Amino acid sequence: MALGTLADAPRDLVNEIRHLEELFTVGTAKLKEITNHFVNELTKGLTVEGGSIPMNPTWVMSQPTGYETGSYLALDMGGTNLRVCQVTLTEQKSEFDIIQSKYRMPEELKTGDAEELWEYIADCLQQFIETHHGNASKLDKIPLGFTFSYPATQNYIDEGILQRWTKGFDIAGVEGRNVVPMFEAALARRGVPIKLTALINDTTGTLVASAYTDPKMKIGCIFGTGCNAAYFEDFGSIPKLADVKVKPETPMAINCEWGAFDNEHLVLPRTPYDVAIDRDSPRPGQQAFEKMIAGLYLGEIFRLILVDLHDKKDVNIFAGQDISKLRKPYTLDSSFLSAIEEDPFENLSETLELFQSKLNISPSLPELELIRRTAELIGTRAARLSACGVAAISIKKGYKTCHVGADGSVFNKYPHFKARGAQALREILDWPAKENPNDEDPIEIMAAEDGSGVGAALIAALTLQRVRAGIMHGILNKENFL
Ligand code: BGC
Repeated sequence: MALGTLADAPRDLVNEIRHLEELFTVGTAKLKEITNHFVNELTKGLTVEGGSIPMNPTWVMSQPTGYETGSYLALDMGGTNLRVCQVTLTEQKSEFDIIQSKYRMPEELKTGDAEELWEYIADCLQQFIETHHGNASKLDKIPLGFTFSYPATQNYIDEGILQRWTKGFDIAGVEGRNVVPMFEAALARRGVPIKLTALINDTTGTLVASAYTDPKMKIGCIFGTGCNAAYFEDFGSIPKLADVKVKPETPMAINCEWGAFDNEHLVLPRTPYDVAIDRDSPRPGQQAFEKMIAGLYLGEIFRLILVDLHDKKDVNIFAGQDISKLRKPYTLDSSFLSAIEEDPFENLSETLELFQSKLNISPSLPELELIRRTAELIGTRAARLSACGVAAISIKKGYKTCHVGADGSVFNKYPHFKARGAQALREILDWPAKENPNDEDPIEIMAAEDGSGVGAALIAALTLQRVRAGIMHGILNKENFL
């Protein structure tokens, strides 16, 4: 929005907008500085000493060929829903069939008791199997790929140790422990006929599912409630796996857990609002990058700004109105910002209705303009910072051209996220202007295949394949593969 439209706005609002623009705009030089630091941090995370980005090996040690086959279950424990799928990889190259059911994750489960979480998941799986396969107790065990999208280490001594909860989860007694036996115990108690073949991250699933249908896909990203990426590294570049006896060029998918980038606060342009988000989160000091980008936080950043401007004596937006609804933390999610950015009307009448219905506030036109500009600033910053991570992996791997498979609510639904990210990549990587607006960018971020469904099934298939070939690295429960 041009500031010209604010010609009639009160001086204090114009000043505030200018101030927010200064705080939230990330220029090309800063993007490049962040990206350079990111490249170093990716490399550091692969060393024995490590860094702030975990760079977790996933033990996915081959790329899909498109010729994988078989029938698998896939379970996705995301932020909002629990999804169970039955995926059949068909004889036809890169083709699959899928049936699925979704179960809402009750909000109280996210901060409740570990036992209840595992029981709930086992219940959903049991229901799914009974609906689609009949009496569960008579069945052979079905291989399952479990998408558990939190930072969990996976190595052959301690597969599935949850490093920490992210995305607002805070369930006691799980961090620092192996989630696999807890999950398996809940299944065993119910006699659910499932063998856990692979514990995967959503980004790894996205990477593998996308590479199954498009060999140019080199990076898998999630821009959703949380944010993260995975890519294929070679063992030769992973010093922390130097004792694994494989050829240096053997691939290994790495779940970066890049949400933890810059936890030391060296390069990211944090604002006082980002500092407040972190301070009041269940895990202060963690996921610094994620807290500036991911869907869980975008609405909250916006809310904090508006409350702050209301409380400032010399600004006082929404003067005389009851802002008690707005004062409630995490009342606004990123879809609220999307709706503001999508308001097609010059007088922002949809935004006005949104504020009235959701928050019981009636902003004036200049206030609506400030609101719109604030949403744009937050959404643009998120997209531009995200591009730094994609650029960093591409630089580290020397990829001059590739496809990047992206999924998640912010990528799929937030207006202009893709275009803003593409513009930032262009600035970071110094690409010349496009000759034809329809040309692909050298590195193009595009919609991914279904990572936690097809991807999880493929990873289960790839894991079974290699275990049958006697390659046992990273395998804890051999009996799950017999
Ligand atoms: C989690 C990652 C996940 C990402 C996207 C982050 O909060 O730590 O494991 O890949 O969200 O879902």
